[in-house]
Amino acid sequence: MSATETTDPNRRDFLYIATGTAGAVGAAGVAWPFIDQMRPDASTLALATIDVDVSGVEPGMSITVKWRGKPVFIRNRTPEEVEAAKSVPLEELKDPVARNANVASDAPATDLERSAGEGRENWIVMIGSCTHLGCVPLGQAGDFGGWFCPCHGSHYDTAGRIRKGPAPENLAVPTFNFISESTISIG
Ligand code: FES
Repeated sequence: MSATETTDPNRRDFLYIATGTAGAVGAAGVAWPFIDQMRPDASTLALATIDVDVSGVEPGMSITVKWRGKPVFIRNRTPEEVEAAKSVPLEELKDPVARNANVASDAPATDLERSAGEGRENWIVMIGSCTHLGCVPLGQAGDFGGWFCPCHGSHYDTAGRIRKGPAPENLAVPTFNFISESTISIG
């Protein structure tokens, strides 16, 4: 369902209510409380951004956290895993675009552009949803040592880039940043 389809019924309700009560109290007096109820409640807003303590995530380990109802993978890659991703020529990538919300939308899918960036290249943060049909891939698995989606056999490398199988795109990197040495804020 598109956003337009979603909002249309509300708009119709709004017009109906506003018209029906305009004579008594004026449209504006009724419209505001109605619109106010359509805002996300406080618990939804609180989950829009999450802060994750990654101090216990040693090199080679990863954790999965929940953000906006989706799994997010946070992995502290070993130097070998970073090197493995860096050594892949871009021409070999099925999806050459970084798919990283923190860099330009047309940035290339180099290891650096996929990671948390200069000085923090060991960290990678991604939405844990296979770009084929949305299954949750398994970490530290697959032909490239990154992630493997068992649903239809998609293999992602240690930078979360699709290398083999039906998935069309690299795993998406959400908006995030380090707010301290060991805390990542996602969203
Ligand atoms: S959903 Fe992952 S390979 Fe199909």
